[in-house]
Amino acid sequence: MQLFVEKNYEAMSLRTAAGIVSVIRAKPDALLCLAAGDTPKLAYAMVPGMAAKEKLDITRCRFVSLDEWVGIPPSNEGSCQFFLRNTIFHPLNIADQNIHLFNALSPDLENECRMMDDFISSHGGIDLMVVGVGRNGHIGFNEPGVPFNKYSHVVPLDETTQSVGQKYFKQSTALTSGITLGLQHLLESRKVIMIANGEKKAAVMRLAMESPVDPSVPAGIVRQHPDADVILDEEAAALLKQR
Ligand code: F6R
Repeated sequence: MQLFVEKNYEAMSLRTAAGIVSVIRAKPDALLCLAAGDTPKLAYAMVPGMAAKEKLDITRCRFVSLDEWVGIPPSNEGSCQFFLRNTIFHPLNIADQNIHLFNALSPDLENECRMMDDFISSHGGIDLMVVGVGRNGHIGFNEPGVPFNKYSHVVPLDETTQSVGQKYFKQSTALTSGITLGLQHLLESRKVIMIANGEKKAAVMRLAMESPVDPSVPAGIVRQHPDADVILDEEAAALLKQR
């Protein structure tokens, strides 16, 4: 794992976007897993310009989602799918056939999980996972306490996730469970980029980087990955003892 502390959100986003572009440059048919949420917004906005500048061919890349709110339709602005389509898939003109996302409305979510795991393994595994960190230390919807050795699964959401998650929705929305890639996917991904910014993430980043690695702080798992970049801004890194 390598830690990068950047001076602000813009610099954190720039390093993240450059990391995404470099994976695609090295492997034009890469399989990427991208988190939704506020943290990666600016990085995703930077990718199309960077890719265009070096005439990168993105038409062969494939994308999977990291997670989705169960029961929330893709037309809802707060859904992860809505976010990803608008912030990155449409701007990059990614063809639908190259995008495999969780259907969180499926009556058979276990089957959704199996289909996601099959898609990933039949396409040679994930080349890059870009993940954010929840205030409770979650990655995707791998809430505190979820074992590290899981592939895709359905999880009841923590109270913190249910209340913080309201920020993505126009009106108060019942958020009870999530469907998510598991942390075993993260361990098997060829590269991981974990990002966090702002004061609100400082306490959890200290736990993730400096407390013993165990499922009580899922984000700590990144320290067990041989090729993970943790990219923070100064505020999120403020409580780290070791820089
Ligand atoms: C979103 C996701 C979540 C977020 C995390 C941080 O797809 O997987 O784990 O990455 O909750 O959210 P933001 O970036 O909004 O602070």
